[in-house]
Amino acid sequence: MIRYRHRIVLRAQELSEALDGLADRLKPLIGNDEVTAIPVLGGAMFFAADLVRRLPSGLVMDFIRIQTYGDATSPQQEAKPDWVPNPENVKGKHVLLMDDILDTGRTMTAARKFLLEEMGAAKVTIAVLIDKPVRRAVPINADAFAVQFDDDQFLVGFGLDYRGRFRNLPFLAALETDIDGLPMSVDVAEESAVSEESKASEASELAQ
Ligand code: IMP
Ligand code: MG
Repeated sequence: MIRYRHRIVLRAQELSEALDGLADRLKPLIGNDEVTAIPVLGGAMFFAADLVRRLPSGLVMDFIRIQTYGDATSPQQEAKPDWVPNPENVKGKHVLLMDDILDTGRTMTAARKFLLEEMGAAKVTIAVLIDKPVRRAVPINADAFAVQFDDDQFLVGFGLDYRGRFRNLPFLAALETDIDGLPMSVDVAEESAVSEESKASEASELAQ
């Protein structure tokens, strides 16, 4: 079993309060529009499910999946959706586009462009759980976010994953990374020294 060094950034209760605030800020942006809420599969699912239950009933849900490739050190390719919403849920509609995190901004830029230009959305409003502006590579802002972090930390939980894991954590944690930016695992010697108290805490759950 590998256990990762991490610290809890936001507990479930704090996330819940942040989502209450986000819903309150979104309501006036939505008004009485016919809204289709579209989370980006799959990280946004957890956040979106909690957010839409705080918004007025009657909105339609649909989904988009879009993969972004490359990072600052590799060539960029245009991100292409490989799962698209039903056209009738988008054409002429006000789309509430949701993702877990607005990081470099490439995913949301590509998704917004696709929904407006290829699918004919009337308007796209962007809501994210986390805004991480320090890593922005393309000029895009969220219309509303639940929390903003000024530092560059690698987050997991509440939909955010490390290599596909930890999306199901009910809290948000930052993985400690080494100088290469890779998450650090707790080594065997250290692990045997971990106290019973911390084993019983949420900390012990970040294992695979
Ligand atoms: P973008 O860089 O804004 O295009 O974000 C692309 C995707 O990167 C997001 O949808 C997340 O899945 C992922 N991502 C960005 N930052 C983090 C992080 O701190 N933890 C986990 N996933 C992340
Ligand atoms: Mg994602």
